[in-house]
Amino acid sequence: MKILIINGPNLNLLGLREPEIYGKQSYADLCAYCQSVCDGLSVGCEIFQSNHEGAIVDKIQEAYGCFDGIVINPAAYTHTGVAILDALKAVAIPATEVHLSAVSEREAFRRVSYAGMACKKAFTGLGFEGYRLAVEYLVGRSK
Ligand code: DQA
Repeated sequence: MKILIINGPNLNLLGLREPEIYGKQSYADLCAYCQSVCDGLSVGCEIFQSNHEGAIVDKIQEAYGCFDGIVINPAAYTHTGVAILDALKAVAIPATEVHLSAVSEREAFRRVSYAGMACKKAFTGLGFEGYRLAVEYLVGRSK
């Protein structure tokens, strides 16, 4: 099994960015965490981050036929990105949505998730742990 983990804009600034919301660990720490989760489950993974919506759409399209699951934190594009929703629907690869913060408890605009409409499940407000649960969910589904 191969999982693609996609992170959207500003997640590369983890640690620096609003640490009271997103925590003090860096993006490199998140990548190492995701890699160790996948290694522990003997799952292949690629981790991709972009600040550009089109690059994320391209990556989802390229995943067709190559990956068995997608874990996506579209960051701000969650709440605006219809193109990401359409790409996820187009490739129809089982996907899970992750947010480090509890989006439903923040500003009203964060309660809408376009990408989430194409995802099987969402893990929010659990920090890095959400990525582990998302990977485990996809692995469990594939059995
Ligand atoms: C986020 C939540 C989004 O609302 C925000 O725009 C982000 C990060 C999260 O992981 O909590 O950039 O996706």
